[in-house]
Order: sequence, then C-alpha cells, then structure tokens
Amino acid sequence: MKVRKAVILVAGFGTRFLPVTKAVPKMMLPVLDTPVLHLAVNEAVSAGIEQVIFVVSEMQESVESYFSYDTKLKKVVSKPGNEAVLEKIDSIPSVEARYVYQREQLGVGHAVLMAKEAVGDEPFTLFFPDDVIWDEIPTIGRMIEIFEEKRMPILAAKEVPNEMVSSLGIIEHSVEEGRLYQVTNLVEKPSLVDAPSNLAVIGRYVLTPEIFDALERTDPGVLGEIQLTDAIRRLLNSQSVYSYQFPGYHIDTGTPVGLLKASIHAALQKDDLAADLRKWLEGQF
Ligand code: G1P
Repeated sequence: MKVRKAVILVAGFGTRFLPVTKAVPKMMLPVLDTPVLHLAVNEAVSAGIEQVIFVVSEMQESVESYFSYDTKLKKVVSKPGNEAVLEKIDSIPSVEARYVYQREQLGVGHAVLMAKEAVGDEPFTLFFPDDVIWDEIPTIGRMIEIFEEKRMPILAAKEVPNEMVSSLGIIEHSVEEGRLYQVTNLVEKPSLVDAPSNLAVIGRYVLTPEIFDALERTDPGVLGEIQLTDAIRRLLNSQSVYSYQFPGYHIDTGTPVGLLKASIHAALQKDDLAADLRKWLEGQF
C-alpha cells in the first residue's frame, strides 16, 4: 500500500521557549518568517503525502487556523503590486488535515498512539517538526522510496557528537548498503558509556501499523514517559528495522539557540538578506 499519511507531533508546552509559548504553540515559532510546522508539512506534501494528522494539545487553535484557507486575508492583500505578499500566503501548503488530541503529556510514544484510529491499517510517516532538514529532495520522500522496497520501518539517522548522545535515541546497527543500516538495537537517551554508537534517530520515520500494538504494550521508560524508541525496539523481535543516514542539513530547532541558528541559516540562503546579515555576523555594523 502507498504511504499516504503523515502524523505530525505538535502537542507539548514548549517550556524552553517561555514566555512566548504561553500563547503561541512552539511549532508555530518561525524559522525566519516561516513556522517550524509549515516546514514539516511542506516536506510531507512535497513527498506526495495526501493527509496530515496533527497530534495537538489544548490551546493550539492557531495551528488549525494557519492551515485553513483564509479568504479574508487574501481579499485584503489582493491588490496590484502585492504579488509578493500573495505569494507568501500561497506558500502555506494545502493538504487534507485531521486533528487528534493528546490530553495528557505522557511522552512521544503516547502522542503517536493518539493517532492510531486516524492512521488505520496502513503504513505512515511520522514527523517531529522541530527537527528541520534542508535538502533539495525531501528527506521523507527518500525514506518512502526505501520503504517501498523494504516494506519495513525506516528511521532517519545522523552521527552526533558525544554531548548530544544522552538526549536522543541511539542506534546499534550492522552494516548495510550505503546510507542504509539494519538496526540491531535502540536505546533512548543512554548515558555516553552505555551508548552503542553515535548514530542518533532524528525526527522522521516511516512506520507500519504494528507500531500501535507495540506502543500499547510499552511501559513508561526514560523520564517516566512512554517512549517511541522502546516500542520500536519491541518490533525488532518480529521484523527488520532500518535506519537511513540522510544527506540533508539538519538543525534541531527545539532549543532557543537551535531555532536562532535555523533562522540565520535560512536568512543566509536569501539573496536579499544574506549580504547584510553576513556583514553583521562578521562584526561590521
Ligand atoms: C525524540 C525521540 C528520540 C529522537 C529525538 C529526535 O526525543 O524520543 O529518540 O532521537 O526525538 O529529535 P525528544 O526530542 O522528544 O526528547
């Protein structure tokens, strides 16, 4: 079956970004001028995804209003000479959207489980939108292609420095072809001494519906939370799981400094901003 759906995790309080996240969902914070969530939806849509399932928590109405068609705003700006403004509005990806609620914050595994009914009995993609990846070809599209051949779960992966290991899911693997590895074990947020490698899971997955059963049987793990990593490790008893070392440029925008780096990276790609910003960064105000 074709991979048609994306589950995108939006729930969470974004406490690292207080005070702004008291009123604005974390995933609506911008990389330069574009919400983090927009970038994830755009990646999904560019890879041919037809339906997005947002897992949201209370107070996230702005997510729904962002992705709904706004005739009023378009009317106001639809004047000759305003083409560039209109283009910005039209850049918001349009896709069939569903919203499911995570009412208690019991961990990322629990958040994924909330999408069980909406996904149904088919393979799907999963995004942690604060992992932003720049690539000519959408990373998730590359992963769907691999899935179409293997029909087994595919996790995005990246080599990370030692100091990052204890805050990510870490992969033990055997060598496979090129950028693809067969996963032999997975550990969520291990201490550096217990980590089987420096290869970390980054927030893009292609999963099969068996993950929901595995999640239902997964007890709280690290941080007392239901961890997706633990459920994927459970799958290893009955199926192969692959990790794909994607070639794109990745920034974790889940911290203020990460979000700032992402904005600077995005601005440096823009002809109208790059020269001025570069000068300033070099200390020539
Ligand atoms: C989650 C996953 C972790 C993964 C990471 C990628 O952790 O549990 O396995 O490496 O996303 O961003 P979190 O960032 O929610 O702590």
